[in-house]
Amino acid sequence: MKVAAKVYHLANRALDRVGLTLVSASRDFDCRLTDEESERRVTEGLAKLVNEWLERQTLFEVRAFVTGDDAHRFYRAYLASPFRSRFGGSRFNNLFALYAVAKAYDPEIILDSGTYEGASAWALRSGCPSANLLSFDIDLKRLLQRSEGVTYVERDWAEYIRPGDPLTKKKILAYFDDHVDQARRLLEAGERSVEVAIFDDDFPVTSFAEMAHGGAALPKIEFVLDDDLRSADVLRWTANGRDHEWMVDAAYLDRARAAILDTDRMPQTAFVTGIHQTPYRVVRLRSASPTPAPFPALSE
Ligand SMILES: C[S@@+](CC[C@H](N)C(=O)[O-])C[C@H]1O[C@@H](n2cnc3c(N)ncnc32)[C@H](O)[C@@H]1O
Repeated sequence: MKVAAKVYHLANRALDRVGLTLVSASRDFDCRLTDEESERRVTEGLAKLVNEWLERQTLFEVRAFVTGDDAHRFYRAYLASPFRSRFGGSRFNNLFALYAVAKAYDPEIILDSGTYEGASAWALRSGCPSANLLSFDIDLKRLLQRSEGVTYVERDWAEYIRPGDPLTKKKILAYFDDHVDQARRLLEAGERSVEVAIFDDDFPVTSFAEMAHGGAALPKIEFVLDDDLRSADVLRWTANGRDHEWMVDAAYLDRARAAILDTDRMPQTAFVTGIHQTPYRVVRLRSASPTPAPFPALSE
């Protein structure tokens, strides 16, 4: 054991010089509570946090809340799924959030941009099995599992669904997790009458650098909402030894902001699950009609 630890340490010292590290492979919930009662505390806690958010948010009318049993079934299904690896796919907390919003909003059409291994399509499908769900990726080779009732499309969503397409007459929920400029996605969604859109990896100017993808994923929705950013000309950052810059385009940020009717972040559920993730940004688009009020009271 001591020899193995020494070899591991030496290997990491050597690899560190070229910016690499050996870490033991681990998946979400490799370390977890195992008795049924404790498991139920986790899933009841998740349902409570998400339901409280659903009740106070002003973005859409809630058709259904998430029961403790729903959350527990989702948790068990996730443990049995092939989506627990940590290499680039969505992790449990955010998948549960997708499940909850799809269930609560109950759209006719769900658009999932950035299929990767298929985890987000699976979670959205689980939340709203009646929706027509299209999942888009420019490269579908990494898809691990096709979910029943999901249409996988190897194209950019905005090329496939044009403004005025018959699909755009329906009640649409869109999810963007594709490393593409989020202002662009917002404007495209507005032109296609998307009512509610969820954005992954939405970070402010103080913390975006790791998720900038060399600048391709900029601006984030946080940039669109940031008044102070308008007075800067350029953002400069370094990532993995490479320097980058992004020219601030205030007019573009303003155009994107005009597409937002209302916006909120989902709740932080890391304290309940022990899995640390940034909660999603959810946007109600101006293209959509005003939300009916009042919302139904929380029932369970
Ligand atoms: C972070 S992964 C998506 C993870 C997935 N949503 C999940 O829940 O596990 C990002 C994906 O976006 C895809 N992508 C890149 N450009 C795209 C585009 N223009 N349209 C759709 N997908 C794109 C990449 O090929 C990659 O598979």
